[in-house]
Amino acid sequence: MDAKQRIDQLRAELHRHNYNYYVLNAPEIPDKAFDDLMRELQDLEAAHPEYMDPNSPTQRVGSDLSKNFTQVAHKYPMLSLGNTYSESEVADFYERVRRGLEGEDFEICCELKYDGTSISLTYEDGRLVQAVTRGDGVQGDVVTDNVKTIRTIPLVLHGDYPPSFEIRGEILMPWESFEALNREREAREEPLFANPRNAASGTLKSQNSAVVAARKLDAYLYYLLGEDLPGDGHYENLQAARAWGFKISEHMRKARTLQDIYDYIHYWDTERKNLPVATDGIVLKVNSLRQQRSLGYTAKSPRWAIAYKFQAERARTRLNEVTYQVGRTGAVTPVANLDPVQLSGTVVRRASLHNADIIEGLDLHLGDMVYVEKGGEIIPKITGVDTEARDGSLGEKVRFISRCPECGTPLVRYEGEAAHYCPNDTACPPQLKGKIEHFISRRAMDIDGLGPETVDLLYQKGLIRDVSDLYKLRVEDLKGRERMGLKTAENIISGIAASRAVPFERVLFALGIRFVGETVAKKLARAFGSIDALRRADMQALTDVDEIGDRIAQSITAYFANPLNRALVERLEQAGLQFSRTEEDMAGQTDRLAGQTVVISGVFARHSRDEYKALIEKHGGKNTGSISAKTSFILAGDNMGPAKLEKARKLGVRIVGEDDFLQMIDES
Ligand code: IVH
Repeated sequence: MDAKQRIDQLRAELHRHNYNYYVLNAPEIPDKAFDDLMRELQDLEAAHPEYMDPNSPTQRVGSDLSKNFTQVAHKYPMLSLGNTYSESEVADFYERVRRGLEGEDFEICCELKYDGTSISLTYEDGRLVQAVTRGDGVQGDVVTDNVKTIRTIPLVLHGDYPPSFEIRGEILMPWESFEALNREREAREEPLFANPRNAASGTLKSQNSAVVAARKLDAYLYYLLGEDLPGDGHYENLQAARAWGFKISEHMRKARTLQDIYDYIHYWDTERKNLPVATDGIVLKVNSLRQQRSLGYTAKSPRWAIAYKFQAERARTRLNEVTYQVGRTGAVTPVANLDPVQLSGTVVRRASLHNADIIEGLDLHLGDMVYVEKGGEIIPKITGVDTEARDGSLGEKVRFISRCPECGTPLVRYEGEAAHYCPNDTACPPQLKGKIEHFISRRAMDIDGLGPETVDLLYQKGLIRDVSDLYKLRVEDLKGRERMGLKTAENIISGIAASRAVPFERVLFALGIRFVGETVAKKLARAFGSIDALRRADMQALTDVDEIGDRIAQSITAYFANPLNRALVERLEQAGLQFSRTEEDMAGQTDRLAGQTVVISGVFARHSRDEYKALIEKHGGKNTGSISAKTSFILAGDNMGPAKLEKARKLGVRIVGEDDFLQMIDES
């Protein structure tokens, strides 16, 4: 078998296993075997770039290239549905359809209304060619590369599909992925997503498809459009689409009577809580396409379909107290303590009040009867006060605290931010513990065996006050403490010892300087080479570094201006941590591309895109995703897109081939 044949065979097999695994939930082979096939294909494709196929199963991993989304007009506009909130409105819809069809028999297809972000997929000859967001309904963003990373969306179809059609559906982030994502974001001090819908649409618009690939999105498809669909039934056509490889909800049902529809609504009103994804209602559609056409459309929505929205669940209960939590960054969050109340299957005792403005806006008083809602959010929130229930006996007005509940330091509010902060970042206990947790986390010092609980324990026992204390711990300090045997204790101590080898850039990130995330830490490590040089850098020197602005620079100077921080760094230096870049880090680095901005485009023979990106950075250049007047040159492989070529020509940007580039940086 020649390479091309093997590549085709592997692609077909991987498409099939992918479908079995992600759509049918019924894998036929172990994960390891799948990975092996994938690796074989990746290797073959790398060796034979001439057989590159944008729909290959390998293309689901995403790339680091930034994308500027282009917009296209929808072939068929993406309309929305009329909403109803009561059974009587559903009855009105049913009656309108009956009259519109002049007494003809009809079926209604009942479906779940998925609460994500809608997408329109175009397939030509069984291959996904384009994915477009709803946008304004008339035109949307082309997000094909991002959508390709979603495993439940088939890139290549099987069976008897029409040569050309569109299929629409909802892209969703399952609750589980959503919660995991928010936990990660919290740990990295990034703003949380309020609900899975925002997380899904935010992710889909990400500039980096590798991020999309990592976020575990899912998709349900519920609407086929095209000239030559298999039959006249919406329901039946979707069953056929399932056989082509699409993920179609198993919960669609056909109803004949109004009572059938009510039964469906009642069932899902409670049962939806057990689904892995968010839903916010039921969609009712006339099943026959012929009847759909005869009913037609109003200006905004079809006459043949309607949405029934579930009531947002709300409970009424008493506000007893407002307490305040201090996070690792010092941000203070007000929390309402409530009389326990049943809401969406759980007992709610606490609800977030977010910030001082929200409290003020609600005009909260202790003892108030308040409304709590869960909606799509994970943390319940207070949405209103039952002022009628106050009957003259108004409790004490809730006023945001002015001092930190943990350490008593007066709180501050930074310009443009809603939150209050405790500025005492060198002595406030939750901030200290949070700093240690950040320091040991995987992306920072990555200390094996040490987790938040152990940190809490060691902190309480007075064994650690700051991260430098970790390096003084001995096995004897740990063993015999709660849940800690000799083996565990030894593991922790050796994990701490091993962290002395962690490179400077990660040590810098681990210090937890405000606004110095992983990327910034890398940039700083590169630009200054050592903590001494960084400590001495003034605002000018700092902001001279690419992408370091005033906000970050100020935070760094403030950090080193504090003698406590300087002393901590000194203790860590004495403990043997890496506070400068090693020879190894710097080996082979040059300034050959200093000041140059390079766009990578096309398919390459000698190195992968990621390798080229690393080479650009190693030689002091910067890789960006889109061509602009600032682009110094384009590193172009084969098959560079026509739009990019055109843009390059317009702006007069130089195009450099792979071999010339390697010569330029002297790595050929
Ligand atoms: S059908 C013309 N079916 O709800 C009818 N929509 O307001 C096209 N949605 O934008 C939509 N689940 O994002 C349909 N089973 C379902 C749905 C559904 C969720 C969303 C969709 C649409 C919005 C309608």
